[in-house]
Amino acid sequence: MDRLNAVLTEMEAYAEKYNVPIINRESAQLFTKITAEANPKLVLEIGTAIGYSTLLLAANLAPGGKVVTIEQDEERIVMAKHFLTKAGVLEQIEIITGNAGEVVPAVGGKYDLVFIDAAKGQYLDYLRKVMDKLSPGAVIIADNVLFRGWILNNEAPRRFRTIVKRLKAYLDFVTCDPRFKTKVYHIGDGMAVSRYRGETNL
Ligand SMILES: C[S@@+](CC[C@H](N)C(=O)[O-])C[C@H]1O[C@@H](n2cnc3c(N)ncnc32)[C@H](O)[C@@H]1O
Repeated sequence: MDRLNAVLTEMEAYAEKYNVPIINRESAQLFTKITAEANPKLVLEIGTAIGYSTLLLAANLAPGGKVVTIEQDEERIVMAKHFLTKAGVLEQIEIITGNAGEVVPAVGGKYDLVFIDAAKGQYLDYLRKVMDKLSPGAVIIADNVLFRGWILNNEAPRRFRTIVKRLKAYLDFVTCDPRFKTKVYHIGDGMAVSRYRGETNL
């Protein structure tokens, strides 16, 4: 645990210094709680950055579990490997380099937990592409869904309006589609937690 916390602290300092967006502390607490409760065997993370949330996921895997994580920025992947090695969890992690929109359809396996934290305008596209890879009861966590409060107050500057529209479409989908049961937490930048009920268990 000390090793985990030491590496997390080092990652926080690195993220702050080099302006890398990572899950914020408040959201990380809830994220860890939900992940620990899910105790997943197989996790898909979309948006690794330097591996901060990846490490939280790895620390809460079921025995023999694995995290598959996707990132397109090669410099960040180098740092993620560095930190995850230092934390002693790299063996439980598969890092895939590439554009998530292209990579997700090709990943194999049935996922017990999916963490969506890459391009905000693509969340619904990612979810649609991962739907046939969800195990019944899978948990889908999406970060930043309230996007600086603009999702609720409709005051986004013009250049962010497409992202706002698409995040709303994501939230509409996971709250209206009967295959999902969703709760939106107003912490950090907003976190949506959806449970997939499966195709046959409505
Ligand atoms: C918010 S950061 C992820 C933070 C990380 N999940 C954490 O909390 O520690 C988003 C990451 O997604 C990556 N990203 C953005 N668009 C992507 C895409 N289309 N495919 C793959 N990665 C993408 C960015 O390079 C960035 O590192």
